[in-house]
Amino acid sequence: MAGVWHDGDAQIWGLEMHRTCYAFGLAADGTAVRHLYWGPALPRAALTGLAASGRGGISPWERRISGGQAQPDEYVPWGGLRYDEPSLKVEYADGTRALEWRFAAHRVTHHGSRAVLELDLADPAYGLLVTLHYQIYDGFDVLERWATIANPGPGGPVLIRQAHSANWWLPAGPRWRLRYLHGGWGAETQLTQTGLNYGKHVLESRSGTTSHHLNPWFTLDPDGAAAEDTGPVWSGALAWSGSWKLVCEVTPSGRLHACGGWNDFDWTHQLAPGGELVLPPFAGLHTTGGFGAASREWHAWQQAHVLGHGERTGAGRPRWAGGLARPAVADGADGADGAAGAEGGRPATEPALRPVLYNSWEATSFAVSADGQARLAELAAKLGIECFVVDDGWFTGRQHDHAGLGDWTPDPAKFPHGLDPLIERVAALGMRFGLWAEPEMVNPDSDLYRAHPDWVYHFANRARTEHRNQLVLNLARPDVAEWVFRTLDGLLSRHGIRFVKWDMNRPFSEPGWPAEAGEADGNPERIWAEHVRNLYAILDGLRAAHPGVEFESCSGGGGRVDLGILGRVDQVWTSDNTDAWDRVRIQEGFSQVYPPQVMMNWVTDSPNWLTGRRLPLSFRFHVAMAGGLGIGGDLLGWSSDELAEAATLIASYKEIRPVIQRGHLYRVASLDSDPLGAWQYLARDGSEVVLLGWWGPDQCGTRLFRPRLAGLDSSASYLDPVTGQAYLGASLMDVGLDLGQTADFGSTLVRLRRC
Ligand code: GLA
Repeated sequence: MAGVWHDGDAQIWGLEMHRTCYAFGLAADGTAVRHLYWGPALPRAALTGLAASGRGGISPWERRISGGQAQPDEYVPWGGLRYDEPSLKVEYADGTRALEWRFAAHRVTHHGSRAVLELDLADPAYGLLVTLHYQIYDGFDVLERWATIANPGPGGPVLIRQAHSANWWLPAGPRWRLRYLHGGWGAETQLTQTGLNYGKHVLESRSGTTSHHLNPWFTLDPDGAAAEDTGPVWSGALAWSGSWKLVCEVTPSGRLHACGGWNDFDWTHQLAPGGELVLPPFAGLHTTGGFGAASREWHAWQQAHVLGHGERTGAGRPRWAGGLARPAVADGADGADGAAGAEGGRPATEPALRPVLYNSWEATSFAVSADGQARLAELAAKLGIECFVVDDGWFTGRQHDHAGLGDWTPDPAKFPHGLDPLIERVAALGMRFGLWAEPEMVNPDSDLYRAHPDWVYHFANRARTEHRNQLVLNLARPDVAEWVFRTLDGLLSRHGIRFVKWDMNRPFSEPGWPAEAGEADGNPERIWAEHVRNLYAILDGLRAAHPGVEFESCSGGGGRVDLGILGRVDQVWTSDNTDAWDRVRIQEGFSQVYPPQVMMNWVTDSPNWLTGRRLPLSFRFHVAMAGGLGIGGDLLGWSSDELAEAATLIASYKEIRPVIQRGHLYRVASLDSDPLGAWQYLARDGSEVVLLGWWGPDQCGTRLFRPRLAGLDSSASYLDPVTGQAYLGASLMDVGLDLGQTADFGSTLVRLRRC
């Protein structure tokens, strides 16, 4: 049970999670909250003892100057002798820029399987009220933190210059190592690492979206020695889909200070009297089980508490949305194979299994036509596809990427009778119908832009820089946000659309809002946060109004993947790079934090359009099966043998899908160190094992490698129903599984049943 305790004498608070705990306490004079501990579970007495000690080895000079090191601030207010990264920096109307506060109150509340601790800190002179929120969950080690800043008003408006969601203090370590995800278009979620030394390492996005270049997630281990299956690891992930910043600082005392939230670059927030600013959640976890255990904890927690859960803190709720946004409802009855809620004892809110989908983008590009899509749909249905998605190119003016974005009506030249005949055909073939849209964007060559040239981000007297010939709509404007909602709501209400691929193909530039800048109390820099808040509100509103519709987040591939968007969509498009060999690495990075269930992969044509690489159909399938399976090739060009093989592989995917999408993932071999990449999935009840393996080109005959399985019952037997061979669990874990000889770009799918 997740538990929160408070020792009123010592003024210490403790959060007891599944295997870990977290504690902080009040300084004797009540003016500071000091972080005490985050790590494996400890008895309360040990934590109380920590509060009384913790100053050894620090010189008196350092002790005074370094509030953030000797006695780290749980949330760092800028003011006094503080020189580390602040959590909050404000400026009052009279010019005072330093923040001082006193503990005011605390509250503990329970909400089903969640417990929430809130701590109020009030500035005695100006009344500013900062609330630190801590949320923990039964059975999990994830601690979710955020802050709320309220201005009761006596001190007038408050200018906020930096406001982080949370602040994490880790102990001193000999050689801190940071692992994180970098990348680019077509090369998302590349796992990398670096040793940290004194000073700061900053990860950030200034692009207005999560970005391809860095993802708001990290792991830290203190001596650079943690491995896939062992070692202490702290990990954090931010629930935000706009510009963000994470700072990892090794302090002069060797402690690790990690913090972050909204990016403070080009950002300030005017908090008017009576106003409140809710910051997005920043989740963290600790494990002693290495990177693999950290990933599994992230995956299980997201499945239970993030996917489809939408709005939780209010950070994404703008005023205009009013009653539109309400918590999304899991579309259980509608899931593929009747999946949601169908498995024994799972909560009714279990996200539905991802359907096998077909997407027409690589097959037809902009050359979409009602007949052409219908021909693809006929073939897709024969393969066992469950959702048929028409990608870009279906709307008015969209012959190429120079025109059309913003005019979301079917192109009469391509769909003379509208979309409905195709939708009905797809439904008659037994598939859901899905449609691509890029609602935050506009081409200058569009009716929308001609009517509303002021609806895009821009500065007076500056160019409007186009990227892919498009501009970004100013979603911070309530009228634009409402137009986007109404447009999508209209499409979903008029047609039998059951799936939306929501794309966002360019970063922001010229992030101006001249009308707002011209207002006496205007604050155009709020666009960074407001765009995302309105995006969330639109998605929350659409999900509430159309509970049977599934959503996929796409941003030129995987440019908008984070815990914030994952609360509002069912899956994400992982990368526009569909070369299965490249995908193995992209997926290895993706899986560090995000669950296979949301990781959409397509099997596409060979040679691959981007890399020119030729790969066997089975290899392409076995890589795509590692998450949500889709087909993206031009089926009209596939031979009958290929179509037959594809149908067989799709049928076997459907059999293993519950284990792939809901099981525990063990990365049992990595192309970084082994001759193959291999992922093992273990059903949550331990009854089934699926192993997918992918070999690269052979070098110097290094094939003799047996991936050692994990998480099994060592005394149980596991049967391979295809070969009839049974293995002892201990042998599979200690000796490994012999996968036989394999050619270059060979691949394997093994299923084992516990007997
Ligand atoms: C982006 C997406 C692709 C496709 C195109 C359409 O690049 O990532 O999958 O939808 O847009 O223009």
